[in-house]
Amino acid sequence: MISAQLSSEELIHLEDKYGAHNYHPLPAVLTKGEGVYVWDVEGKKYFDFLSAYSAVNQGHCHPRIISALTQQASELTLTSRAFYNDMLGKYEQYITDYFKYDKVLPINTGVEAVETAMKLCRKWAYEKKGLSEDAVIVFASGNFHGRTLAVISASQDPDSRVGFGPYMPGIEIIDYNNLDALAKALENKNVAGFLVEPIQGEAGVVVPDAGYLKKASEMCKEKNVLFIADEVQTGIARTGTLLATCGNCNCASHCENKPEIKPDILILGKALSGGVFPVSAVLADDDIMLCIKPGEHGSTFGGNPLACAVAIAALEVVKDEELALNARKLGVIFRERMTELKDKSDLVTLVRGRGLLNAIVINDTEDSKTAWNICMSLRDNGLLAKPTHGNIIRFAPPLVMSEEQLHACCDIIEKTILEFKK
Ligand SMILES: Cc1ncc(COP(=O)(O)O)c(C=O)c1O
Repeated sequence: MISAQLSSEELIHLEDKYGAHNYHPLPAVLTKGEGVYVWDVEGKKYFDFLSAYSAVNQGHCHPRIISALTQQASELTLTSRAFYNDMLGKYEQYITDYFKYDKVLPINTGVEAVETAMKLCRKWAYEKKGLSEDAVIVFASGNFHGRTLAVISASQDPDSRVGFGPYMPGIEIIDYNNLDALAKALENKNVAGFLVEPIQGEAGVVVPDAGYLKKASEMCKEKNVLFIADEVQTGIARTGTLLATCGNCNCASHCENKPEIKPDILILGKALSGGVFPVSAVLADDDIMLCIKPGEHGSTFGGNPLACAVAIAALEVVKDEELALNARKLGVIFRERMTELKDKSDLVTLVRGRGLLNAIVINDTEDSKTAWNICMSLRDNGLLAKPTHGNIIRFAPPLVMSEEQLHACCDIIEKTILEFKK
């Protein structure tokens, strides 16, 4: 039964009948991926313009990453942290050198890494900052950090939040991109950390004002508050720099220059494995990271040898193929093409983003079906993208895209939007 060739329609039916209804996928049933392309079960080829929410930055099934995976898979996959293994230390050395931190705490999914950062921040506040058990972590409005109970306690999104209370205390939400709001929040002596996305991906690729992040990190430093960057979506070359917190760097391949900000805690996920399977990480220097002691945090799979091999390969690809530089270069072309389109069409009201994390805002209400229907037409024309927040379409292709392929994608988007009838 499992091996039978089923049609898209039949496969959608299976998911609908036997799977929980916690997602609403665009109807495209994929069976193969290679580089910037994916194929559906009927053999239709598409440009992937979402990259699994920026997990597949290195392109689908990158041969170097798959080779690391298969090689390691036949040696050793999991030891748990009850014992040492011959991959973890090498990976820890590699990733801490790569991102310039003393230590890493390896974990699996993005949201687990956010939870880890929250726990680490609280522990630091009690051990080093001298707070009693009443630490507050400040979050920004419009945030998305995942969907566990602690994390939705900091969310304002009704879909993630409503019906799942009671919520965790010790959280304050302030306006994103508002330094006055941060200054006010920092007056509270119990604030231990400010946890923020450098660009809000799920909110619709909301890019803060130039200087906001730098000033925010300086304000946190002044008040002995940890500046915690959630770069699960923005990190690892997506926004045209290794990290979005690097600022306007012009490094050619790998961090010759000093980043604009060094977060006290850095959270990574998604592209850390090139989309092969869940690998996430929390990075910090010793004075923070060593606040967590044996037994206080962990995960059976965190730091498994397979993840270590895959993550090293995934990070090598980013560096060797100069993906940050490519994202920076192609991002400029993409926004130029979309801005031209905005001038030709009443349907597009705004184009924004950085590197290859971009979005267009569709001229309709958040509860309208227009953006969804445009994505259906894009699919029919051979490009996969998905709306976020109803009327915003996020565009995030794999970073291994060529200029020629990018122009072909822009042609598809342009044709689709210009022909689209509401
Ligand atoms: C900024 C950010 N943080 C955390 C997460 C959660 O990651 P995961 O879905 O791997 O748990 C996401 C997922 O989209 C994200 O965009």
